[in-house]
Amino acid sequence: MIKDIIKLLPAAAVVLAGCSNPKTQSSCSDEDRFVDSVVNSLTIEQKIGQLNQISASGVEEMEKLAAQGLLGSILNESNLDNLHRIQKAAIDNAPHIPILISRDVIHGYKTIFPIPLGQAASFDPELVRHGSEISALEAASDGIRWTFSPMLDIARDPRWGRIAEGYGEDPYLTSVMGAAAVKGYQGDDLKNPQSIAACAKHFVGYGAATGGRDYNSTFIPMRLLRNVYLPPFRAAANAGCATYMSSFNDNDGVPSTGNKLILTDILRNEWGFDGFVVSDWFSIGEMINHGFAADMKDAAAKAINAGLDMDMVANAYVDHLQDLVKEGKVKESKITEACKNIVRIKYRLGLFENPYPTIPQSVKYAGEHLVAALKTAEESAVMLKNNGALPLKNAKKILLCGPMADAPHDQLGTWVFDGEKEHTVTPLAAFKQSEYDVTYIPGLTYSRDNNTSKFAEVVRAAKSADAVIFVGGEESILSGEAHCLSNLNLQGAQSALLAALKQAGKPVISVIMAGRPLTITDDLKNCDAVLYMFHPGTMGGEALVNLVSGKVSPSGKTPVSFPKNAGQIPVYYNQNNTGRPASGHEILLDDIPAEAGQTSLGCTSYMLDTGFGPLFDFGYGLSYTEFAFSDFKINQTEFTSDNDIIEVSFTLKNTGSYDGAEVAQVYVRDLVGSITRPIKELKGFKKVFLQKGGSESVEISIPVSQLKFYGLNDVEVLEKGSFDIWVATSSANKDIKWKTTIEVK
Ligand code: GLC
Repeated sequence: MIKDIIKLLPAAAVVLAGCSNPKTQSSCSDEDRFVDSVVNSLTIEQKIGQLNQISASGVEEMEKLAAQGLLGSILNESNLDNLHRIQKAAIDNAPHIPILISRDVIHGYKTIFPIPLGQAASFDPELVRHGSEISALEAASDGIRWTFSPMLDIARDPRWGRIAEGYGEDPYLTSVMGAAAVKGYQGDDLKNPQSIAACAKHFVGYGAATGGRDYNSTFIPMRLLRNVYLPPFRAAANAGCATYMSSFNDNDGVPSTGNKLILTDILRNEWGFDGFVVSDWFSIGEMINHGFAADMKDAAAKAINAGLDMDMVANAYVDHLQDLVKEGKVKESKITEACKNIVRIKYRLGLFENPYPTIPQSVKYAGEHLVAALKTAEESAVMLKNNGALPLKNAKKILLCGPMADAPHDQLGTWVFDGEKEHTVTPLAAFKQSEYDVTYIPGLTYSRDNNTSKFAEVVRAAKSADAVIFVGGEESILSGEAHCLSNLNLQGAQSALLAALKQAGKPVISVIMAGRPLTITDDLKNCDAVLYMFHPGTMGGEALVNLVSGKVSPSGKTPVSFPKNAGQIPVYYNQNNTGRPASGHEILLDDIPAEAGQTSLGCTSYMLDTGFGPLFDFGYGLSYTEFAFSDFKINQTEFTSDNDIIEVSFTLKNTGSYDGAEVAQVYVRDLVGSITRPIKELKGFKKVFLQKGGSESVEISIPVSQLKFYGLNDVEVLEKGSFDIWVATSSANKDIKWKTTIEVK
């Protein structure tokens, strides 16, 4: 195929092909020659056609556009036959350039994995990589070769519905998980028909939407952008991520879709990215709403000149770029450059040789895929509380209740287009297959249900059960894009049902399926155990039975801080110390005497009603077993170069009576800096599985370069001075197992 296309090109174009890829300027590769030969042979209309992405609207319409060369990419079509027809129309007609077929494969295609926030809770990057690899294989079987994933937006505000789609509040955890996802989707070679191009989104700062309201403006100063919001995207670039997506938000007055500083100066000139950038849905046109562009033509000029290569569904480029070139407002070379970026990724995907899928349909829901989804769901569950009710030891008669106990659609979570609820294994379905004698009375029919008429029946059934398993949380529609909440308590009458169940006098195990951390503060007293599964995907029910039965011990850790109430937001672990740090002994609301003197309390950074810390700290999670840490060692305590490696080692022993896994976390604190630095930052972690009684020597290496940060004048620095470093099982000081101080000299 590639030879056929070259044959079609004017000889001059092939001869003239020089080295256009800025990344490989020094050595003109076959890729560069091919890309140049294809693009240099195109008319300006054909070049602009490559910059155009359309949302599928009828296969005939798409065929026509493809045949006209006006369709660089398509989204929202996943029918194999339709995609074949559209692709054939593009291949059979000049300029014979294959279409890049895309889809939102966010946490699975057919086999649905836990939402990314849940996957982050596994603290197991290999699971994330493998899940993305499976998702790519299933999607590629329908001809989809580009996904709009991973989402790398740091989120410190769970009111924002899209916290569900990312990997939480921490830059390091998000960087590790995002890079794993990129590797999973793209594999070792994009040309492999099972690989699909990844897309790091939403570039950048989208998760800092003011007030947690989606699409709202962000005001992230450059240093915070560099030190918190950009690192995961830089990690994706280092992992070879093929594409990026500009975010909807305006940051400090500049919409990302028209922001040359991030799209060109940082992404390309600093990080050496040579793929292409797609706008988010119609975000070129939204620059008019922002008041940043006067009209669509102005928006098109601002976007292409900032370095935005592909226009998702605004039609701005096809409608205006030619005129803008004639008017001298856009150089044709910008269009040529954008076109080459896109053709380069199509070349790397092997689309010129293999534009049609070759993977059997049998890969969808394959047995090994469901097993992988099960393992991920098991490892994504975080046990937040357990007073001994779990695992179910002598309980045989189970009352299963709650609005999410048999919710096959909602259990899958947000951003699921192709996964079918018929394949979902719900808790009810799994318990029916188990050795338990289960009685199922939902009590509430959906998460927002306020009908308490069934409560008496549920409580009666609870009294004759050995244990109660309540499965609640939120419907999938309550998180995800544009689904933000100002109140994060359990919806509907769920808390009332938990309070009623408490009266039955039997152990109550609460299982929460949600797209965000919910403020379950007042529910805890009514729960003997809490398992937080986020939205666990297709195999969530079977994972739940394996967890409560003790077949698998919970091993998840919170990827976000859980606020006590919405008023406490934002609350995150890696905050600065402030000039008046809370001591942890502050006087709280109920302890304040009447007529308290003006300076008798407060004077440190905390809230009178909620105190200082969150309900659950970042990195927290319980297990059925216990672990002992010993023999801590560090290779040295003085370092002189950012090429040095800090090596912390220790022995970990499973001293309990269950097999299980612990996540050893390494945090650092830069004690004095040229700018104020966070009180702690996660810089390494390792999840270690140990059989009961087993032990293992564990080593965690941290490059000294990870102590660098962007200080004054937007320069990345490694500053001399003292750093505390410690190993812990959560970000809370009470979970520190070992601590020392190192010096950078
Ligand atoms: C949406 C989302 C983005 C998604 C795109 C295509 O608005 O912001 O994450 O990939 O449009 O569906």
